[in-house]
Amino acid sequence: DWTMAEFRQAKIAEIRAQVGDGRVICGLSGGVDSAVAAVLIHEAIGDQLTCVFVDHGLLRLGEADQVVGLFREHYGIPLVHVNVETLFLNGLAGLTDPEAKRKFIGKTFIDVFEDQANKIGGAKFLAQGTLYPDVIESVSFTGGPSVTIKSHHNVGGLPERMDMALVEPLRELFKDEVRALGRELGLPELFVGRHPFPGPGLAIRIPGEVTKARCDILRKADAVYLAEIRAAGLYDAIWQAFAVLLPVRTVGVMGDSRTYDYVCALRAVTSTDGMTADVYPFDAAFLSRVATRIVNEVQGINRVTYDYTSKPPGTIEWE
Ligand code: XMP
Repeated sequence: DWTMAEFRQAKIAEIRAQVGDGRVICGLSGGVDSAVAAVLIHEAIGDQLTCVFVDHGLLRLGEADQVVGLFREHYGIPLVHVNVETLFLNGLAGLTDPEAKRKFIGKTFIDVFEDQANKIGGAKFLAQGTLYPDVIESVSFTGGPSVTIKSHHNVGGLPERMDMALVEPLRELFKDEVRALGRELGLPELFVGRHPFPGPGLAIRIPGEVTKARCDILRKADAVYLAEIRAAGLYDAIWQAFAVLLPVRTVGVMGDSRTYDYVCALRAVTSTDGMTADVYPFDAAFLSRVATRIVNEVQGINRVTYDYTSKPPGTIEWE
């Protein structure tokens, strides 16, 4: 029956024993998991840790600035911020299949990361914020045949190629436990309480082809939706909430003119580990307020729908 304070001390000892005086690099994604892993490892080994933030341009509004601000300015953790938006968008051009998008992003992410790691030089260890559900969901359905449901790019591949040993202090934890550990480590609530965000980012929230224009539209709609959720005091009651941009245009009317723009779908679910999920039951007034604001404020969207599918049979993300 462990407390988080004990877990923290035990992991710190374990990390020190594993790493010795070696150097560790850790990829930051902007999410809770890699942030907690990085802060824990920094506490264990200080400046033997260097963080690498591969900014693929598929993040939410303002997220990159928050990551750099927290790690470089607040914690003083050595952080390399690589802006590779163009590289990712160029490679995503023409890709529409969800797994092809994931594979390209995962591979390119690893290439960029490896390149940066070589530049830093001499690191023998790679740290990752892998959680227990990542470990099992990436491998197989329980009791079923061994199939990959979705290829999560933060698991596998890289360490063998780079001849690095893995440091994965969160491997036994579920999301709520990672949050508790983050609080124990003094991470700001904005980070600790943040909804999970997938490695491939907005690319899997834009079914079909991903373009810069579509990412920009989606970022704006998503920011409006999340601002309304926070204003209503609902953020912490929800596991994940986000907007999805459908590559479908429908007809609408604004003022005297006809519009022909994209559809935005809103998703919000409750869950304890992301493996199953229920739809969050917003009231109708809330949803119409969000729909009105998005259509009025986000150029390129003229229709908003709410996704009422639980997991299973749906997944949380749309791709
Ligand atoms: P699904 O959509 O499979 O999502 O119900 C379950 C949880 O996993 C996240 N997710 C991902 N995370 N890389 C990630 O790092 C991925 O490719 C990926 N796909 C889904 C999703 O946001 C949810 O929290």
